[in-house]
Amino acid sequence: MRAFTGMHPSLILLFISFSFSIAIRDTVTPNNPLPDNETLISSDGSFSLGFFRPSSISSNLYLGLWYSNITPKTIVWVANRKDPVINSTAVLSISTNGNLLITNQSSTIIWSSGVTNVTNPVAQLLDTGNLVVRSDDDGQSYAWQGFDHPTDTLIAGMKLGVDFTKGLNRTLTAWTSSTDPSPSQYYVMMDIRGSPELVIGEGSEKMWRSGPWNGEGYSGIPETLTYSGFNFNFTNNKQEITYSFTTNQSLVSRVTVNASGIVQRWLLVDSSGLWNLMWYTPSDQCDFSPPCGPYATCNPNNSPKCDCIQGFKPKSPDKWVFRDATDGCVRKTPLDCKNGTDGFLTVPKTKLADTWNVTVDTSLSLVECKAKCLNTCACNAYAPSDVRNGGSGCIIWTSELTDLRVFVSDAYGQDLYVRMTAADLGSSSSTNSRKSNSHKWLIIIIVLALLILILACIGGLLRRRRKRRQTRGVLAVTTSFHDRSNRRVDNLELSGGNDLELPLLDLGTVQSATDHFSNANKLGEGGFGPVYKGRLRNGQEIAVKRLSKSSVQGLVEFKNEVMLIAKLQHRNLVRLLGCCIEGEERILVYEYMPNKSLDFFLFGKSKDQVLEWPTRFKIIMGIARGLLYLHQDSRLRVIHRDLKASNILLDEEMNPKISDFGMARIFGGDEAEGNTRKIVGTYGYMSPEYAMHGVFSQKSDVFSFGVLVLEIITGKKNRGLYLADRHTNLLDRVWSSWKEGNSLQVVDESIKSSYDMNEVIRCINVGLLCVQNHTEDRPLMASVVLMLSGDSVLSTYPKEPGVPLRRVPHQSESSSSKQDTSSTNEMSMTLFEGR
Ligand SMILES: *[C@@H]1O[C@H](CO)[C@@H](O)[C@H](O)[C@H]1NC(C)=O
Ligand SMILES: *[C@@H]1O[C@H](CO)[C@@H](O)[C@H](O)[C@H]1NC(C)=O
Ligand SMILES: *[C@@H]1O[C@H](CO)[C@@H](O)[C@H](O)[C@H]1NC(C)=O
Ligand SMILES: *[C@@H]1O[C@H](CO)[C@@H](O)[C@H](O)[C@H]1NC(C)=O
Ligand SMILES: *[C@@H]1O[C@H](CO)[C@@H](O)[C@H](O)[C@H]1NC(C)=O
Ligand SMILES: *[C@@H]1O[C@H](CO)[C@@H](O)[C@H](O)[C@H]1NC(C)=O
Ligand SMILES: *[C@@H]1O[C@H](CO)[C@@H](O)[C@H](O)[C@H]1NC(C)=O
Ligand SMILES: *[C@@H]1O[C@H](CO)[C@@H](O)[C@H](O)[C@H]1NC(C)=O
Ligand SMILES: *[C@@H]1O[C@H](CO)[C@@H](O)[C@H](O)[C@H]1NC(C)=O
Ligand SMILES: *[C@@H]1O[C@H](CO)[C@@H](O)[C@H](O)[C@H]1NC(C)=O
Repeated sequence: MRAFTGMHPSLILLFISFSFSIAIRDTVTPNNPLPDNETLISSDGSFSLGFFRPSSISSNLYLGLWYSNITPKTIVWVANRKDPVINSTAVLSISTNGNLLITNQSSTIIWSSGVTNVTNPVAQLLDTGNLVVRSDDDGQSYAWQGFDHPTDTLIAGMKLGVDFTKGLNRTLTAWTSSTDPSPSQYYVMMDIRGSPELVIGEGSEKMWRSGPWNGEGYSGIPETLTYSGFNFNFTNNKQEITYSFTTNQSLVSRVTVNASGIVQRWLLVDSSGLWNLMWYTPSDQCDFSPPCGPYATCNPNNSPKCDCIQGFKPKSPDKWVFRDATDGCVRKTPLDCKNGTDGFLTVPKTKLADTWNVTVDTSLSLVECKAKCLNTCACNAYAPSDVRNGGSGCIIWTSELTDLRVFVSDAYGQDLYVRMTAADLGSSSSTNSRKSNSHKWLIIIIVLALLILILACIGGLLRRRRKRRQTRGVLAVTTSFHDRSNRRVDNLELSGGNDLELPLLDLGTVQSATDHFSNANKLGEGGFGPVYKGRLRNGQEIAVKRLSKSSVQGLVEFKNEVMLIAKLQHRNLVRLLGCCIEGEERILVYEYMPNKSLDFFLFGKSKDQVLEWPTRFKIIMGIARGLLYLHQDSRLRVIHRDLKASNILLDEEMNPKISDFGMARIFGGDEAEGNTRKIVGTYGYMSPEYAMHGVFSQKSDVFSFGVLVLEIITGKKNRGLYLADRHTNLLDRVWSSWKEGNSLQVVDESIKSSYDMNEVIRCINVGLLCVQNHTEDRPLMASVVLMLSGDSVLSTYPKEPGVPLRRVPHQSESSSSKQDTSSTNEMSMTLFEGR
């Protein structure tokens, strides 16, 4: 590598002027050790070797290697990563017998290379970046070389893998952190079992595999085929099984494993240290330790991502329905070796199944390979070991096919031939799809029939309720009816729907992410149980809701509900990332919102961070869009029923995300009839018809939205219902100032300097329209969004806001409807399919 050739002339000048004080050198000899204030520079200037501190405050010195002309320093190799020189100066020297030594101020040996039989030794930094120890008499063979002991980086010319003759096992091991070079638990190694492949491991666990080398590249990294200017070299013989790469002169590239166990290939863009990430892994859902189980293919672009190979069926259909494919698939018809009618199904564009337990014979042709598989009763599949020139060589699987993935791009992946009985081969994919199509139709018909039934019933009930208004019995019936019928619909949706992917996390992952639910990570206590902050292995931050044991509900129902919520995806809704169900544990994992919730900013005691008007307007628009999605645009029609400031979370850019939708039906929602009669939600945000009669519709959410808008504008909380003095009620205050034509007087003092008058007035107007007493008068969210964005003229003058004062709290409800308490316990969601 001659990265130095691209060096700026002034830098070269700098080196020349430098050379007046110290001679540039690339060697260490017994008479000429290297103190920690000097560096070795390879003869063409590409690489430098010297002592460095991983951070400016660190007292640890390490001997490291970096590209001379790339700033900031990119350390690619560390000699003494486990043994820093602490609180002392350091020297690199070589003993007269060739042992490379790092010593501290008191000449204690901190690190040594361990090779002690070299005469006339010299240590030299080569242009490749390799630090070698050789005898001065012999320029060719190296007694020791840095390239044999990689750190976390593979640079051009360095080998990864096993050398049997020298007894070397070269692996990459990640730094513990960006300021600590000591080895972490993540490593990349050559797994030499079966057909060799690269593996990312964490401790003894295999996290990712590259797939075997197929002559062109690794079966699972087809991207490398498109790299120009690169040469990849995979050597597999009796002496060594190694992988290395070289680049043509103009390219500088390196492969690293980072502290989160992610392997990345970088390409230098310019010498100012700008590295372009060319490729990394694990990168998609199919990369992380096999999600699909035996005989299932993983395709990250499909939903669900796992699919049985044709001729196979899910081993555990119950789990399969819930996207848990870890049990994999089994043959529809068991192989009967003696019959002699078996054939092969071609599975195209695959990353070959795990090859750790295969037999490889490179001398066979593909035809011979097929014959060999047919003649071996245990043979499940075969593939060529070299795909070049139409394919040659033979890989035979006698164990199960695991970790099989397919690529979408036609240029990627290779054919795998899976043995199958004649009967299963005959069932071509077209019959399969016809079958699933007829399934789909069946489901659609059932859903439609149910919809019509539900609508008819709702119609009937509404009519009845109108007659018997204010009779509480009706309320109970209505509510429980919705819950029942909707659940039935959901079940069907789930087993039929094909577009949902919710990862089931295992408890261990969640535990390690939250440090075993440590108190330090606790964010708060919600109605269902504590919420923790966590960090996944890949660095992603998450919020973990651990449902209290008391609220545990049937497994099937729980999964059903969670899947339902997972279907709701919108940039203004908090996203459910996954869930965990193990034993008694019911855990929900959400994206983490660093900025807490809206109420902290609006009503927080300190109010230290003022939300300026543009941000508030953005928040209002975001909530409106999120709500519009829930009401109209999502496939399910969702009524949130508990919209309030504390349920609006804010991301790092202060984008609002509606949270906590739908939880109530999971917990304490309707196990008992008595519970359903509870009116859920938070007084202060509740529409009058809902608070008094339990009648809810999209328009009750619109009411809550209106309250929220007025709170955001005024920075004041809307008080609940039971205040004697009507005039302390926020809605009334805004309403009366509006009537007086002086609506701007209610605007939050702290934004008086930043607001846009027209926008504020428009928002107050929309807010008042939303909180009108009669549901018919309130706009739908679709028109709210239009009005807010100014795309629609505000022609309607709002009528008096609704304030349900007359209702007396019932004994059984008072506990759940105290004003201002977080009512997450009781918050609820209701679905209407159809309008
Ligand atoms: C390195 O340190 C030694 C002793 O402290 C000093 O004699 C020498 O001049 C220094 N070299 C440079 C390049 O600063
Ligand atoms: C290093 O030196 C600093 C201050 O001189 C001291 O506080 C610290 O304890 C020392 N660390 C070690 C490991 O000796
Ligand atoms: C050198 O290292 C040894 C062993 O770690 C330590 O005991 C000694 O104090 C160090 N000397 C200095 C000057 O730091
Ligand atoms: C040095 O010792 C190693 C084994 O420790 C041996 O393989 C090698 O051949 C020796 N080299 C010389 C020059 O004697
Ligand atoms: C190489 O090292 C890795 C990790 O240290 C280990 O898992 C693997 O078994 C070793 N391979 C050989 C051939 O010794
Ligand atoms: C090196 O690779 C670059 C990028 O692919 C190419 O443009 C250039 O011609 C190559 N140079 C040589 C000498 O092969
Ligand atoms: C690949 O590496 C082997 C030794 O590891 C070497 O003999 C061979 O020449 C290399 N091939 C290419 C094309 O660089
Ligand atoms: C490792 O790389 C991934 C992917 O680029 C990145 O998301 C993650 O933050 C990195 N981890 C560390 C500790 O740098
Ligand atoms: C590996 O394959 C052999 C047959 O080739 C089989 O007997 C053995 O059980 C397999 N090992 C595992 C762990 O599946
Ligand atoms: C062999 O397979 C054919 C086709 O699947 C089937 O019709 C026949 O019954 C099988 N014979 C035996 C002995 O299993």
